[in-house]
Order: sequence, then structure tokens, then C-alpha cells
Amino acid sequence: LRVDINQIKGKVNPAMWGLFFEDINMGADGGLYAELIKNRSFEFFRPLMGWNVLGKAQEGALLVLNRQEQQAANPRFLRVNTERSGAEGMGLSNEGFRGMGIKEGLRYDFSVMYRQRKPGITLKLELVDSAGRVIGQGRWQPRGDGQGWQKQSASFQATATHPRARLNIWFEGAGEIDLDMISLFPADTWKGRPGGLRADMVQLLADMQPGFLRFPGGCIVEGFDLSQRFQWKKTVGPIEDRQQLINRWNFEFRHRPTPDYFQTFGLGFFEYFQLAEDIGAEPLPILNCGMACQFNSAEVVPMDRLDEYVQDALDLIAFANGDISSPWGKLRAEMGHPEPFNLKMLGVGNENWGPQYIERLAVFQKAINEQYPEIAIVASSGTDPSGERFDYLNSELRKMQVDIIDEHYYRHPDWFFENASRYDDYDRNGPKIFAGEYAAQSVRIASPDNKNNWLTALAEAAFLTGVERNADVVTLASYAPLFGHIDGWQWTPDLIWVDNLQAYGTPNYYVQKLYATNKGTHIVPVTAGGKPLTGHQGLYASAVVDGNAGEVIVKVVNRNGDSETVVLDVPGIRRMPATATCIVLQSDNLDRMNTIDQPLAVSPKTETVEINGKRPQFELKPYSFTVIKIKR
Ligand code: AHR
Repeated sequence: LRVDINQIKGKVNPAMWGLFFEDINMGADGGLYAELIKNRSFEFFRPLMGWNVLGKAQEGALLVLNRQEQQAANPRFLRVNTERSGAEGMGLSNEGFRGMGIKEGLRYDFSVMYRQRKPGITLKLELVDSAGRVIGQGRWQPRGDGQGWQKQSASFQATATHPRARLNIWFEGAGEIDLDMISLFPADTWKGRPGGLRADMVQLLADMQPGFLRFPGGCIVEGFDLSQRFQWKKTVGPIEDRQQLINRWNFEFRHRPTPDYFQTFGLGFFEYFQLAEDIGAEPLPILNCGMACQFNSAEVVPMDRLDEYVQDALDLIAFANGDISSPWGKLRAEMGHPEPFNLKMLGVGNENWGPQYIERLAVFQKAINEQYPEIAIVASSGTDPSGERFDYLNSELRKMQVDIIDEHYYRHPDWFFENASRYDDYDRNGPKIFAGEYAAQSVRIASPDNKNNWLTALAEAAFLTGVERNADVVTLASYAPLFGHIDGWQWTPDLIWVDNLQAYGTPNYYVQKLYATNKGTHIVPVTAGGKPLTGHQGLYASAVVDGNAGEVIVKVVNRNGDSETVVLDVPGIRRMPATATCIVLQSDNLDRMNTIDQPLAVSPKTETVEINGKRPQFELKPYSFTVIKIKR
């Protein structure tokens, strides 16, 4: 292999390798968002979904009331009257999201919004395991006698670890009280933020050193119909004022006829921006373009009513970047971030297509360019990587000179192996490409039986050599979806799997991570016999130099079941160092997967390899992805 380190082919966008986040597979509620109470404000499809009555509740002792006129965003609350309940007491038990993951010795923060009607009720709190044993106890006593709504917390420690606990709330004493936003959070959230995110899940993201974070999806941006589209303005401000929405993925839950997957938006747009900042990623929000999900619905907003959607986009830029004296900048500051979030890119539409999309996008483009010419617009090229629909969109988007085109491909591993040269001849003068959603599908597209096995990861690694080789045109890349909850998913494969207590990266995760953490600064050619290596004799390769670290980084995939030896010829290096670093991701078994019990079964191993002579040899293991790093 010849690596011509002085023939720079282009720059690598430092933000190139990033993350696609969507609340699918319990990614947010029941996942990243660490709230343990399901249906905390009684807004689910059935008001008491997730809750079970304990003891004997007399008629009318537990009522859900609705104040739609005063509080449209959070209309329901619970009224508890214990005056007529029997001696055995009365309570409510919350089941959590497929149970609650509870850790021994950890502090749990319970909070509730309440309004006293007849003072006298206190709450006894009990975490119980699936055998009914109490594994944590606390007491909550309202401080004020006042009539207005107020919030109050109580903390207690868990005495045991359990993956599927529940919280019992016993109402003690005689009186009447109104309750809303009943909440329980672990103390070990990311950065210890109250009401924050699951630290283990964020850590896996941070470890990837992602360049960008795309949010909030995905199809949830579009919604089944426009009334259920994602509206960012309803996800910011005090959490009790954020209007919940049924999750569009709810209906894909198998064997769960009752919809219980909602978006509470505790993880809302402010928190997404904050998360992006925390992990060093550029924020990349995607907004609805005035079209519902075209797989489910033909609903589009009439052109003369598109203004509201366009205004949402303009206001979002103001929310992210505006001065704190502006209304949206002020809200950001009130939420705790006076500094701008430095938004540079904005997506308009997710997997939308047809002339209806082009027509609507043009209105967004004009308005954004006029007011915020510095913001790059990311446009969708639908769902197909080729074909008539793709060709139409591609040519229209190029005519419109959008900044970045978002391409998606969920395909068989063979497609990934065969398309490593996809971008070799792409037009360099037009828009850049965002490989916005991709994943090799082991069985077939969108099959629930797809696996995150080594074959899929190896196929992606091979394909991504082509993405890296063409990093001058492919400016952003992200695998999708990001998270899957073992007990509640709709889509496989996924980059990271979690249960209520643990999280692990798949082999696919480690492929992404190796690209992101060895991205270099400039692309250089790596050739065999004068040609790029795009599958010839089962080998794939790309190379970059890292101007900051003074390194040459060569990535090679060996798709063969046997070891292969490659000889590296790097004419630009005058004196080869004594050693190179090789990071190897490999398994002899293409069906191998990582699991909760064996999270590192397929994970990178770093070796220091001695270099003998000017043209060093490297052995590539069977079915392997190797990153070779040489100091220049
Ligand atoms: O990643 C899962 C889904 O796949 C996304 O929501 C959508 O954009 C694509 O079809």
C-alpha cells in the first residue's frame, strides 16, 4: 500500500464524525432522560397509565382532574383525599419504564408539585424490588399550608441494587391534596445535574468525541400527522409547562397494544444544546418542513400556512444564538445559558421528498438566508441511496445550492461492502454530503431480527473508508439509531444498547469511535497498484494525516477469513520510527455481538508494533479493521 502523505486531497471537517439522536427504542424517556417515574403528570393516553392503586381507595379518593382552560400544556393533576379511606391505607405505585434501575447506596431525589386543600397528608415513599422487598424508604411532608402550587423534594438512599424496582407512595394522615409532576431521579446524573441525564449513557457518547449531535430525529420530527410533529417551542422553559406528545414510535412496539410511549420533553431543546456542548459536539437540530411522515401520511401544510413553521426555524436560531436582550435569547439565559450555543447548521425536513418538499424548503431557505446567512442548511434526500426519487431530489437540491444534503441508507452488509467507492466521483462543486443515517442490516431492512453483529460492523468499517477518503465532500457522518433499550425497542440494529442499569457499545459503536477518534486533519491517498483500495482482494483502505499530532493514520479492513500481510510504502517519511501503534477491532466469528454480560467481546485492542526497515509490514487479522498510526 502506498500512502502519499504529501499529496493532500482535502481537509477533514473536525466535526465530521457525529451522533444521530432520536427518542426511539426508549432513547429519551426511559433511557437517556433519567426520570424514573412513568407518566409523572398524568398526561398519558390513560391518565393513570403506569400507576397502580395500593390498598383500599374509597370511591372518589383518587381523582384525576383537568384544568385545560388554565393550563393547556399540562392539564391533568391528581387529587388525593384520605378522609374516607380505610384503615389499611391507600397509595399509588409507579412501575417506571419497564421497572426502575435502582443502585445500592445511591441517593434518590423525589419531588412533587402540590397544592394543599385540607392539610394533613404526608407521603411515605418506598422503593420495592420485584419480590416486594423494600430497598429504600423516605418521607415527604408538605411544608406550606398555602393554596398555590409549589414544588418540594425529599431524598433518601437505596439499600440494594435492583433492575426492575417500583416506587410505592403511601398517603398517610387525613386531608386532601393535589399532586402533579411526581418525579424520582437518581443523584448520579451526568454532571450531577438535578433532573438530568443518565451518566453512563452520556459517557459512552462523550468517549466517541463526537463532532456533532443531530437531534431530535428522525421520523419524530415529522410525526404521523402534523398535529403530532415535533415542535421545539413546546420543549423549552419550565418542565411542568412542556406539553407532552405521544411518541410516533409508540405504535411500532410489538405486543403492546396500549400506547405508553410518550415524549415528556424533560429532554428538550435546551437540554439537547447543553448535551452537545458538554460532549464537544456541534448542535445540529432538524425541524419539520411542513410535511408529516410520508410513509404514514400524505399531510402537508398548505403553502399559505407555512409561515408558522418557518418562524419556528428563525426563532430557533434566535434561541440558540440570540443576544440575551432578545426574547428567545432571554429564555435561554433564564434556563441557565446566557452564552450563545453557537449554532452553525440547521436541518429542514427529515426524509421528505417530492416537489412538495422542494417547494417548502425553498421558502425556508430564502427566509434563513436572508436573516441568518451564516447558518448552513441541511436538506433531506429522502430515504433511498439511489433511484428515481433520489435522482430527482439530488438534482433539485443541487440547483437550489443547499449547503448540505442528508443521505440515508439502511442496507444489507453487501451493499456497504460494494459501495465503498460511492463518493469517489461525487461532484466536488455542489453541496456537501451528510451521511446522516446508516446501518448495515443483518437480516433485511427494518427487520426486528437484525443484529449488531461483527459482520454489520465490518461492512460499515469498509464503507466508511470510502467516506473518509472523500471527506472533502462528505462532511458529516452518523450511524442510526443511537440507542436501544433491551426491554423496549422498535428498531434494530442500534449503536448502543442499555437496560435500566447498564449500557454498552456494539461492535458498530467501536467502528464509529475508531473513525471519530482517529479522524486526522487531512486526507491523503492510499493506493495499491495506483488505485484506491475499495474491495480488491477483500481489502479496503483510507488514510489521513494528523497535522496536530504529526501522525499518518491508515485504516484497513480485511474482509477475508484469512490473515493478509500488507507492506506500507510511505515515501513522505524520511526516517521510519522504531514502532507504530495498531488498533485492531476483530473477531473470527462474523456473528459475534457484544452483550450486557460481555460488553467488550468485540472491542479495540491497541498494540505497539515494531517497524523493521523503510517499508514496514503489517499483518491484518481475518475479518478485521485495523488502524495503523505512524509518527512522521
Ligand atoms: O433511525 C430510525 C428511523 O429511520 C428514523 O427515524 C428515520 O429518519 C429513518 O427512516
